[in-house]
Amino acid sequence: MKTIQTTFQTAFEEDVYKGLTSFPKYLLSKYIYDEKGDKLFQQIMAMPEYYLTNCELNILKHHKAAIADTINKEGGFDLIELGAGDGKKTKILLQHLVEKEYDFSYLPIDISQNVLEELETSLKTEIPEVDVKIQQGTYFNILENLANLSTRRKVILFLGSNIGNLLHENAIEFLRNIQKAMNPEDMLFMGFDQKKDPQKILDAYHDPAGITEAFNKNLLVRINRELDADFNPDNFKHWETYNPESGTAKSYLVSKVSQKVTINKLGLKVNFEAWESIHTEISQKYDDAVVKWLAEESGLEIQTSFQDNDNSFKNYIFRRKN
Ligand code: AVJ
Repeated sequence: MKTIQTTFQTAFEEDVYKGLTSFPKYLLSKYIYDEKGDKLFQQIMAMPEYYLTNCELNILKHHKAAIADTINKEGGFDLIELGAGDGKKTKILLQHLVEKEYDFSYLPIDISQNVLEELETSLKTEIPEVDVKIQQGTYFNILENLANLSTRRKVILFLGSNIGNLLHENAIEFLRNIQKAMNPEDMLFMGFDQKKDPQKILDAYHDPAGITEAFNKNLLVRINRELDADFNPDNFKHWETYNPESGTAKSYLVSKVSQKVTINKLGLKVNFEAWESIHTEISQKYDDAVVKWLAEESGLEIQTSFQDNDNSFKNYIFRRKN
């Protein structure tokens, strides 16, 4: 007899339980990012196949003057960055804003206090003129607090096509929450990875060195450690798909054998048929029509956009529509 556990100590426990007792099975990609997952993502960003980071870096390099000019048009502002990370891309813009002597403060927000402190320290030596106020938190509580966080005009940065992890429905909800926290003169600057040659997308999410595979399998490693489970990651195959019609890239872990996995902390035994899948991540790709639709559904409108040479990646500036 299977014992049905109905109370959970953490959201992680509950989400893992739900995902692995569903059909088809899934796990939420946000749980990839523990300390090890963060490191693996840093390695992904440095891989030649993962074009997204370089494309956005180039957009910021080439268009920093026009971007800075647009965001500064209506005077001083707080530059609020959601999921700032190491700030590598943002520093290009910060450097330019400083050179122009624009009146602004930088408010990087991240889930990791450690990442934020490193960012603050590196800014002190690299661009000491920047007025930095770090803020630790999740997207959810940041959005709730955004209106209180800053009393100046807000320019919100959300880079890296991080929105791509959300289904359209959830992306709209997320954008609406930002929209609600925005005043008419505020701006939202966001990166959206664009639809392109499907092979290029598959290559970005299935590198021969196996870094993306390790990143994906970190979900199993984390469940083993935090929930006392016995997943053997070698018994799963990393599998990537891209649907050019919907623009959705999906990652899976596919069970190579028929197997049972015990998750002690959940009092759960999970049965896998041979070649049964666990869906782990979506990385949505966009085009102008879809971005325009997402904006409209969220009460936003596109003010302008910046793209790289082969239109692989695009950054849009949004304003409130009303
Ligand atoms: C951080 C969500 C933008 O989906 O491209 C990288 C995460 N997954 N390789 C992405 C990721 C596999 C990444 N985002």
